[in-house]
Amino acid sequence: MMLITIDGPAGTGKGTVAQAIAKQLNLNYLDSGAIYRVIAYLLLDKDISFDNEVLAIKEIELADLDFSNSEILLNKKNITSDIRTEKIASFASIIATSNIIRESILDKQRRHLKPPGLVAEGRDMGTVVFPEARYKFYLNASVAERAQRRYKQLISKGFDVNITTLEKEISDRDERDQNRSVSPLVPAANSVIIDTTNLSPEEVISLLLTHINK
Ligand code: C5P
Repeated sequence: MMLITIDGPAGTGKGTVAQAIAKQLNLNYLDSGAIYRVIAYLLLDKDISFDNEVLAIKEIELADLDFSNSEILLNKKNITSDIRTEKIASFASIIATSNIIRESILDKQRRHLKPPGLVAEGRDMGTVVFPEARYKFYLNASVAERAQRRYKQLISKGFDVNITTLEKEISDRDERDQNRSVSPLVPAANSVIIDTTNLSPEEVISLLLTHINK
């Protein structure tokens, strides 16, 4: 089965690029960050501290999570746009430091690998979840550029955001994701690393397709 992983920090264009490649190659698509965001939403909603890992895992296992369409449903409630705030993203990066929580969703993520194949994006797709992937990419970009992109994206979705705060939140998230002891954000040993700071999404998509078609 065709398996492509795209990892990297927030705002590097992973989502846009991964979805476009999945569409062009007719493959399934996994946004693993959305799973961490949903868990963050769930624990905040139920007022469960992430330190209480046993209770947190129980809630995650009981939750009825539906990713099957482009919308995300949690216990039948549509939370697609609720999970896109930077508050949820920051909390997601805190709970993502928990080894028990990460292990509890490994199978959930791996079940997305179905014929004819998958494009999976996140932080540890090529290193931990799908180490066997034939094509691994790691996207990066300057923090200022990533904050700008996220700013435009959030504003277009109607969120009220401040660019300075956003840049700080993204840097804090990078710091946590890169320095945690479990599954830290690092390029997989055999990945193709691309700096997208000065590239358009179309240019990045074309670069990836060239590597895949080689
Ligand atoms: O990609 P996104 O911004 O939606 O991810 C939110 C957070 O979820 C990340 O900052 C990271 O802490 C966590 N995450 C992770 N592993 C993944 C995907 C996301 O730890 N594979």
